[in-house]
Amino acid sequence: MKIMHLVFHPDLAQSRVNRTWQKQLVESGKVTTSRDMYSEYPDFNIDVEKEQKLLMGHDRIVLQFPIYWWSMTPLLKKWLDDVLQYQFAYGSKGDKLQGKDLMIICSAGGQAKNYSGFHMFATVPEILKPFQLTANLAKMNYAQPLYMFNADACSDDEVQKYGKSWVKVIDDSARSDGLRFANAKIHDELNDVYQQLGMA
Ligand SMILES: Cc1cc2nc3c(=O)[nH]c(=O)nc-3n(C[C@H](O)[C@H](O)[C@H](O)COP(=O)(O)O)c2cc1C
Repeated sequence: MKIMHLVFHPDLAQSRVNRTWQKQLVESGKVTTSRDMYSEYPDFNIDVEKEQKLLMGHDRIVLQFPIYWWSMTPLLKKWLDDVLQYQFAYGSKGDKLQGKDLMIICSAGGQAKNYSGFHMFATVPEILKPFQLTANLAKMNYAQPLYMFNADACSDDEVQKYGKSWVKVIDDSARSDGLRFANAKIHDELNDVYQQLGMA
């Protein structure tokens, strides 16, 4: 399986979590192509032809980014807008991504117990629905997203531990147990919160 790993962090040099994960994934030797997209396109001037060619040359596309304002980072949005064109990704002849996998890896500063609470009334998979909708439109297989909470305050060990899990599942088929890892974790953590609130 040819895997293209695209990291959309506005300042990867200053990043702790996403830089660590990129390093781990590259060192695993499992990703065919790994790119720091902000350093490739500092002016947001995306080479659409190049991106489309690269997409066609890989089987699984992995998009990695930190969650900013309950959403993706701006270059990733621009990349989607520019690259996933009509009659390329969708439309009567837009079948170039059909059958490929789309996998999201992201980090969230918020804590698990706050997501789905009063102020943050959405889970990470819910926040990521635009990617699932995009995958559907392009007839791609949407893999279970991989994500970590508490990204600013957790220990370096924790960051590494998550990175190791991503390495394990990055080349798995979309429905592997490994890919349910993050979700299983959030359910465990949410169950704890529900229990504390007497709602279990
Ligand atoms: C502009 C900005 C917006 C952010 N918005 C969110 C957010 O909506 N939800 C959240 O959980 N964390 C948010 N964060 C925290 C980041 O997700 C967190 O700093 C990042 O995942 C850490 O990864 P890094 O070490 O690779 O930078 C935000 C951070 C910044 C700088």
